[in-house]
Amino acid sequence: MLELLLTLAVIASTTLTVVLLMLPTRYVRHSPPAATRQDASKISVQVLVLGDIGRSPRMSYHAMSIAKHGARVDVIGYQESALHPGLIGNALISIVPLPPPPKILRSGGLPFVVAGPLKVLWQIWSLYQALGYRTQPARWLLVQNPPSIPTLFLAIIVCFLRNTHLIIDWHNYGWTILAGTRGAAHPFVTISKYYEAFLGRCAPTASFTVTNAMARQLKGAPYNVRSPILTLHDRPAAIFQPIASAEARRAFLERIPETQKHASDIMAAKTRLLVSSTSWTPDENFSLLLEALVTYSTAAKTSKSALPPILAIITGKGPQKEMYMKRIAELTSSSKLSSVTIATAWLTTEDYATLLASADLGVCLHMSSSGVDLPMKVVDMFGAGLPVVGYAGYESWPELVKEGMNGRGFETSKELSDVLMELFADRSGKELQRLREGAVEEGKRRWDEEWDSVAGRLLGICD
Ligand SMILES: *[C@@H]1O[C@H](CO)[C@@H](O)[C@H](O)[C@H]1NC(C)=O
Repeated sequence: MLELLLTLAVIASTTLTVVLLMLPTRYVRHSPPAATRQDASKISVQVLVLGDIGRSPRMSYHAMSIAKHGARVDVIGYQESALHPGLIGNALISIVPLPPPPKILRSGGLPFVVAGPLKVLWQIWSLYQALGYRTQPARWLLVQNPPSIPTLFLAIIVCFLRNTHLIIDWHNYGWTILAGTRGAAHPFVTISKYYEAFLGRCAPTASFTVTNAMARQLKGAPYNVRSPILTLHDRPAAIFQPIASAEARRAFLERIPETQKHASDIMAAKTRLLVSSTSWTPDENFSLLLEALVTYSTAAKTSKSALPPILAIITGKGPQKEMYMKRIAELTSSSKLSSVTIATAWLTTEDYATLLASADLGVCLHMSSSGVDLPMKVVDMFGAGLPVVGYAGYESWPELVKEGMNGRGFETSKELSDVLMELFADRSGKELQRLREGAVEEGKRRWDEEWDSVAGRLLGICD
């Protein structure tokens, strides 16, 4: 009996020792952080997104800003598409790629109830490895939400083990996006809502949000976040700039095939150039724009106020593109779009930025699942000095678009066609020009300025 007890005691203490020895190393320098500016070279940050780093512009901008001020940064995420050039070749920035889940879990070959949990287990393991062992202990962990499962949970565990301070960067809520795809009544939606609310409340040292409206919501039920919440608005990247001159505009319009034939008419305001970028998903109702363009075309045939033809360029890739291309072809062949030419394009970032700067009006069809996020494409349009007409039926919209100053809002296709007719019927383009000035003004405040004063201060690397 005694022998057995002794054996068990030895096994237990050995196991405990092994577990303790295997725990991730801890961050020891200056903790908790002082609220004043410190030597940036002593500060390190892990930036985590459970998604493709190349398609996570905001997390990429965070990393570049941190390195710009001399602090070390690890960017942890999937490496699928090309990285932002600013992340490459900087000694202070390390990319820590997460291994993608095995093919069988991604292919959809297994039923969701099996593949879902297995995928989460895979993510837990790879995140734990990356955050706990493949990286040096850091003072800060900045994690993108959503996705929140299992990221928030893992982030909290690792921050506890490594003596790291956690910041959640709220881009949106995971559960409202899930409600959009699975239906609001799905039990998993409720579970993920309370998971997100609970961890969001007890976890972070601080939170960033993309809007003031989101910060307000996080302070109330069901989140009840009590730690500091700072709004860090998305701002245009440096590549989005107003067009330098009329010659530059003409040269660009004559260069890309989508606008080539119409270049002179656009320059003379005889044709109006409309740009919309869409991910062709159900949360961007493209029918609204299509219906509005049909109404516009009909009015152009009959109305006395001469409405100019529209060239609409739609950029982006996505699941519903084929369906809408068919609809467009039908409407075109039945002459319902006689005053409108719709062209799709897939452009480089540089050409997309110049297209925005060369257009007359941007269209945004984003419908917010949470009601409190904002589309980055509108931010980019303002950076390019392009006024925007967009779907306005959610709480945070007026935080970015000031009605009649830098853009216009609509909720129905009728309202959209009214705005198009009003703005384009005026050949002098006075109203468009006024909106353009508002857009240029709004686009002047850039990411660096916003980041330094909000995030840089919190991290202790800016005054
Ligand atoms: C999309 O817009 C069309 C046209 O106004 C409307 O008939 C349809 O109900 C809308 N769909 C959704 C999902 O809101």
